[in-house]
Amino acid sequence: MPFDCRQTGQARSGLNNADVAQTLKQLHHQASGRDALVFARALPAIIAGKFTGRSTFEAAEPYLAKAFIPVSEEFGRFMYLTALSRGSKNIVEFGSSYGISSIYLAAAARETGGFFTGTEKDSAKAAVALENLDAAGLSRWSDIREGDALESLAPLEGPVDFLFLDGWKDLYIPVLKLLEPKFAPGAIVFADNIHSFRKTLKPFVDYISDTSGDYETTILDIGSGVSFSVWRKAH
Ligand SMILES: C[S@@+](CC[C@H](N)C(=O)[O-])C[C@H]1O[C@@H](n2cnc3c(N)ncnc32)[C@H](O)[C@@H]1O
Repeated sequence: MPFDCRQTGQARSGLNNADVAQTLKQLHHQASGRDALVFARALPAIIAGKFTGRSTFEAAEPYLAKAFIPVSEEFGRFMYLTALSRGSKNIVEFGSSYGISSIYLAAAARETGGFFTGTEKDSAKAAVALENLDAAGLSRWSDIREGDALESLAPLEGPVDFLFLDGWKDLYIPVLKLLEPKFAPGAIVFADNIHSFRKTLKPFVDYISDTSGDYETTILDIGSGVSFSVWRKAH
């Protein structure tokens, strides 16, 4: 059995665990307030972007340094369930921000007996993400590597069975290629913002959708578009 999914009434270990649920509730609330302000400040750039063919996210990008820009609860749960159902033991994230998606993935790692490794280049955000994982009771099963993911993930040990791409969009392909040699057969790759960064992510979508390539992929209309791929190549 890849993981023990039995729950005892008191010590629930999934998303219904009291510390996990409470921390996620607070963080989603905090994120919606802060990000609403950030996007309000970015409004003139967003409007100007409409005339130059830039998406809302692309136009707002210079304002987003301290924003949460988290996954939705729906998508967080979906990734949690996917990681859990595969029994993913080595779960990796590119772009952790304040740790909302990290909590969903670390909660899965706790249940599979695995480990979650997040990455965040903003040191203040990385520190808060670690605090949030701690508040959720998930420190033992998780870490956030501070700095550029291309450097911090280079020494990561494989096999990696689950990767979530959510950092800056021009780095999706480099981060993916960095980790490919470490992928377990059937590794899962999720990537966010496929629709909101349509132009920037076109090379990435072409790469993971290439029918003669190494992935089987579908694009889901969750939030601002999510790609879901399975690595088919055997090393
Ligand atoms: C969309 S936010 C991530 C949101 C997070 N996954 C969540 O759902 O809560 C993107 C984050 O990626 C981080 N980032 C961007 N480029 C990075 C890089 N090269 N290495 C590590 N983190 C990076 C940004 O600082 C930002 O906090």
